[in-house]
Amino acid sequence: MGSFSKLVFVSFGVINTVNAWGVLGHATVAYVAQHYLSSDTASWAQGVLGDTSDSYLANIASWADQYRLTSAGKWSAALHYIDAQDNPPSDCNVDYDRDCGDSGCSISAISNYTQRVSDGRLSASNTEEALKFLVHFLGDLTQPLHDESYEVGGNDIDVTFDGYKDNLHSDWDTYMPEKLVNGSSLSDAQSWADSLVKEIESGDFKAQAASWIEGDSISDVITTASRWASDANAFVCTVVMPDGAAALQTGDLYPTYYNSAIGTIELQIAKGGYRLGNWLNSIYSSKIAKRDFESFVETRDAAPAAAPAAAPDLSVREARPLSRAQLAREAMGGSCCKSRGREEDHEHQH
Ligand SMILES: *[C@@H]1O[C@H](CO)[C@@H](O)[C@H](O)[C@H]1NC(C)=O
Ligand SMILES: *[C@@H]1O[C@H](CO)[C@@H](O)[C@H](O)[C@H]1NC(C)=O
Ligand SMILES: [Zn+2]
Ligand SMILES: [Zn+2]
Repeated sequence: MGSFSKLVFVSFGVINTVNAWGVLGHATVAYVAQHYLSSDTASWAQGVLGDTSDSYLANIASWADQYRLTSAGKWSAALHYIDAQDNPPSDCNVDYDRDCGDSGCSISAISNYTQRVSDGRLSASNTEEALKFLVHFLGDLTQPLHDESYEVGGNDIDVTFDGYKDNLHSDWDTYMPEKLVNGSSLSDAQSWADSLVKEIESGDFKAQAASWIEGDSISDVITTASRWASDANAFVCTVVMPDGAAALQTGDLYPTYYNSAIGTIELQIAKGGYRLGNWLNSIYSSKIAKRDFESFVETRDAAPAAAPAAAPDLSVREARPLSRAQLAREAMGGSCCKSRGREEDHEHQH
């Protein structure tokens, strides 16, 4: 390989640090969600985002990952995960009080932005920010390693996948999904979403889809999002590392491990999209439509506007010492994920 192409590869790797479900996974979650939005919810979301294209959610699904890499957005890095301090593979569990760090976590963020997106007193740009965060974080929550503190959510588990040295976290976020669909573009996401929607409508997921959203309630966000996190975290023990991490560090994870994991990845992406669609429909129908109707009635009757209810104070958290995993994340500059070893170990090993 000549030094020019090597240089291009290196800078590509630096810019494209891997985070969350990768761009492909988040866009696929977004397209699945779009399929399930009511037309009223869809028009509302398009208005908030200023995007009437047919990719309005997919276009912003990875915004939060770009934002957290900027100096203005660094504060939001902790919101992409919850560091469950459990003990895989023998014991997997999430405990919101134990695991949500002092700078917040995915669950507290979903609570905050569910409230903010429907809070009619916020500016258009704050409302837009809230919707962009929700679209992203509901996706992050279904990636099992975003609900796990062990080895910094698997970022510190070095493995080999399909000839590349990388880490277990990035394989789940990005490289196993990309292997499945052989690509990472929005149109790859669109076709993957189409096939997942088919599974939900008439295939393997039909019998279980209702259970993915059972009990979901925008009036009890912490309980709902904690259930989502526990559901994904359970896969850390059963699918992600059923025999422990060391068992994944010998040999190539492709094809045997990949084949054992890819069905769960498809399930979790479909689930994230289905939940997101239902969540936004609920926010729209029980908050936005209702608020718009009330202000219509108030204006018509020229009744004095009711004082807006105070926004719940979500900022009260007890100070707790940082866990080992949280310290490790801090050391990584608040990043949820290291970039793939491609830039350091960019040579194919076979
Ligand atoms: C995957 O995509 C690449 C480039 O887009 C193409 O050259 C290749 O044939 C594809 N492989 C498969 C198995 O579809
Ligand atoms: C809620 O979101 C706003 C806007 O992004 C942020 O400034 C604030 O810190 C968040 N609060 C909590 C408790 O997460
Ligand atoms: Zn993320
Ligand atoms: Zn990630």
